[in-house]
Amino acid sequence: MTTEDMATETEADDDTDSLVTSDPGKGGLSENDDRGTVMAADTIVESRDLDVFYGETQALQNIDLAIPENQVTAMIGPSGCGKSTFLRCINRMNDLIDICRVDGELTFNGKNVYDEDVDPVALRRRIGMVFQHPNPFPKSIYDNVAYGLRTQDKTENMDAVIEESLKKAALWDEVKDQLDKSALNLSGGQQQRLCIARAIAVDPEVILMDEPASALDPIATSKIEDLIEELAEEYTVVIVTHNMQQAARISDKTAVFLTGGELVEFDDTDKIFENPESQRVEDYITGKFG
Ligand SMILES: Nc1ncnc2c1ncn2[C@@H]1O[C@H](COP(=O)(O)OP(=O)(O)OP(=O)(O)O)[C@@H](O)[C@H]1O
Ligand SMILES: [Mg+2]
Repeated sequence: MTTEDMATETEADDDTDSLVTSDPGKGGLSENDDRGTVMAADTIVESRDLDVFYGETQALQNIDLAIPENQVTAMIGPSGCGKSTFLRCINRMNDLIDICRVDGELTFNGKNVYDEDVDPVALRRRIGMVFQHPNPFPKSIYDNVAYGLRTQDKTENMDAVIEESLKKAALWDEVKDQLDKSALNLSGGQQQRLCIARAIAVDPEVILMDEPASALDPIATSKIEDLIEELAEEYTVVIVTHNMQQAARISDKTAVFLTGGELVEFDDTDKIFENPESQRVEDYITGKFG
């Protein structure tokens, strides 16, 4: 596959792009991985016995969670229960926090992302992230979306890829005549959609979103929600939200974390909100605590 094909490839199934720093033949992605044949066909990210510590403090305990491909998985739970920590484990953003230590396993397409041969930069190309506060670069709208393409040398056909990414992020119509203007002049909701366009331009497989709409007004929030549902046709979306209605509206699966860094329940979203197994989950969802 040429660079140009990769830049314009829209199917999120490019398992040939290795995660490892050397010897690409040993990438161990699902097609060639022993475990790939036994894990559920539609699981893309899976944690097993995952423990996370910040210094002496344990933030997550024994998390076993299988995230299905091309669906929206929501993570809910009270402040401090470890939702962001879990999200950051998936693309190794926790590596950037000195005191953070991760034990156990977290696989992406069957490959443990904490194996020594995994290159975190290559991993983050395939697992993009959108944060709570939109963080566009102080550059033009065009250059923001072009950023990842340029760093990856995927500059062939760039205008088309940028247009496509802005369309997928439901922003194209609003910005097509001002691509050379500063991204910082956009509204908060537009900036967040720009960050989503920037994340999808490099054609990741998974998009992690940490409270992507919590700083936005209801109209901008509803645009982001519509967008997330559309993105799930092509990508796997994992979203942290404090907004229960939002989780109920847009997600297929919901994981409920509770204080102490415990994953208490993980199931179809309808089941979690209508008939959860755990009394603690029911109490949390109905607002009895949290
Ligand atoms: N960089 C850090 N250094 C030390 N401790 C941290 C760090 N980040 C998180 N923690 C601790 O880990 C625990 C989980 O934090 P995390 O941010 O994952 O929670 P959260 O569920 O995302 O909360 P919120 O809903 O408030 O965003 C908390 O006790 C927090 O204090
Ligand atoms: Mg958080």
